Amino acid sequence: MIEEPPVEPVALRVVTDDEWPLWRDLRRAAVADAPHAFCSRIDDWHRGEEARWRAMSTDPGSYNLIAEADARPVGMARGLRLGTTAAYELRSVWVAPTARGRGVADLLVTAVEDWALCQGAHSLRLLVAPGNAPADALYRRHGFLQTGELGGPAPDGVGQQYVMAKELPAPDARPS
Ligand SMILES: CC(C)(COP(=O)(O)OP(=O)(O)OC[C@H]1O[C@@H](n2cnc3c(N)ncnc32)[C@H](O)[C@@H]1OP(=O)(O)O)[C@@H](O)C(=O)NCCC(=O)NCCS
Repeated sequence: MIEEPPVEPVALRVVTDDEWPLWRDLRRAAVADAPHAFCSRIDDWHRGEEARWRAMSTDPGSYNLIAEADARPVGMARGLRLGTTAAYELRSVWVAPTARGRGVADLLVTAVEDWALCQGAHSLRLLVAPGNAPADALYRRHGFLQTGELGGPAPDGVGQQYVMAKELPAPDARPS
């Protein structure tokens, strides 16, 4: 009989202001692991790098989450209010390869959705690179649909990212 390895429970938590190095390291790991998924220029951040990461981690319009298993980070996601508008985006969704297929991304997406709802968002949007089937399936499972808008060049420069969005419940239909 083949014994399954034990599966550690996964917990989510918000990154604290002084944990910007952890957020930076996770983001770098994500971009290195999945360059096809992220249009990131963080490798170019040589000047003022600390200030930029700090600003990203402490932005009051953002919600930076990490997923941990056995106190080790295994995933991340970010909710972001765009400027002073009521537009909210889900960004930087990543699960470490060893933790995939266990619903970690489901937990992250649901938590960012809940945060956006609490902020008064009417909808949540995101960008997906063409051909990123696991991400597309994940978001569809959560009720996101393609809007028909394009979101700029794909990370590999071939094709365009596309926008997916999900309407969030109106205030009077929200769970109390
Ligand atoms: C896309 C990504 C975030 C999905 O992460 P994940 O944690 O594996 O996602 P989930 O576990 O929630 O779902 C993945 C699959 O596991 C299945 N699953 C969910 N919970 C499960 C569980 N407890 N046990 C077994 N399988 C499970 C899901 O049904 C889904 O199945 P499918 O492949 O048939 O669709 C991950 O592949 C990733 O980080 N990719 C690289 C970065 C990326 O593309 N990010 C998105 C940018 S837009």
